[in-house]
Amino acid sequence: MSRPAAADRPNRYGHALKPLWALDPAITYLNHGGYGATPRSVLAAQDRWRAQLEAEPTRFMQRDYLPAVTSASAALARFLGADAEDLVFVENATGGVNAVLRSLDFAAGDELLTTTHVYPAVRNAMRLVAARAGARIVEAPVPYPLTDPEAATRVFAGHLTSRTRLVVIDLVTSPTALLLPVAEMAKAARAKGAKVLVDAAHAPGMVDLDVTALEADWVTGNAHKWLFAPKGTAFLWAARGAQRGLHPTVVSHGFEQGFHAEFDWVGTRDPSGWLSIGAALDFYREQGDGAIRAHNRALANRAADLLADALKSRQGQSPECRGALATVRLPGTEGRDRAAGLALNDRLWREHGIEVPIIPFANALWVRVSAQIYNELSDYEKLAAALAR
Ligand SMILES: Cc1ncc(COP(=O)(O)O)c(C=O)c1O
Repeated sequence: MSRPAAADRPNRYGHALKPLWALDPAITYLNHGGYGATPRSVLAAQDRWRAQLEAEPTRFMQRDYLPAVTSASAALARFLGADAEDLVFVENATGGVNAVLRSLDFAAGDELLTTTHVYPAVRNAMRLVAARAGARIVEAPVPYPLTDPEAATRVFAGHLTSRTRLVVIDLVTSPTALLLPVAEMAKAARAKGAKVLVDAAHAPGMVDLDVTALEADWVTGNAHKWLFAPKGTAFLWAARGAQRGLHPTVVSHGFEQGFHAEFDWVGTRDPSGWLSIGAALDFYREQGDGAIRAHNRALANRAADLLADALKSRQGQSPECRGALATVRLPGTEGRDRAAGLALNDRLWREHGIEVPIIPFANALWVRVSAQIYNELSDYEKLAAALAR
């Protein structure tokens, strides 16, 4: 008898899966989007790579590393619909964004366009390169809550000018959990002659990501969040015509010897996370691949409904503007700041064993929940009860 397809197996996801991770069973973990969580099988693969390296460091670094990293980045490229030549590993999306920004030359009067939902660390990197050149950062105020993807494109496109040199667009926004229509936004930017950098930090494993379909110049994203890779495993994809002059923030032996040569070796570091991408992809596929994405998005929708009903409050996005992350506004928190959000996060953790970020945006605090295959609806019920108190 053949095994039923993943999508046909009811209740195959949920708390019963949690032991596949090293997660503390006492904690209701609702922040998968924060840093990911690496399954035990992937950590075991990483341990094996480390053991191999440490048994003969010289041999490993000088002979084994290059073929291993070439094959690992090619596997990730295949998964993301890219050619192996066009995708390299970086340590995180912040690093991918920095590599691009710091490889570009801006001039006085140039504009770098992003949205008000941009990731704060990325905003800082933009500030640095803009300030050095006398360029200006423009942040398009994409509506929040967002219930219409076209409204996001419209507002964004309305801030493109003939001076816009570069746009930085988040595929899934960090503080507000919006799934943005990046392909349409990128198209509008290209039509104005701007270069396009997509920050897809959350996208791999959360949505069906084909990096080439975005028609961007550069796409960076994390494998350590929703794709279950070890921490420090991310990628930078560059269109063929956008690889020249692109350098890692750490310039090393491969300088001016090609995209892969520059990024594959950035000095001695622990490569075990990158090399474990095969194990992460295996785990992801064994757990259902597209079924994971569908399940997590459906669970995020149910969680958002449940929390909004319980708190008599509003959701930060409609289902078409949402991936596996959802935000719900916390009533009575007008004007509260980051410190108040951290204090509530701490209280939920100490008093209720719940790990969940509380984020200030649009003059209030919002709870941001992640939905991963080890979560169940009861996790959000527990959160709703704790918040109601
Ligand atoms: C949109 C966005 N960009 C960048 C990052 C940074 O990711 P990392 O810490 O892996 O660099 C995040 C993290 O949540 C994010 O949401």
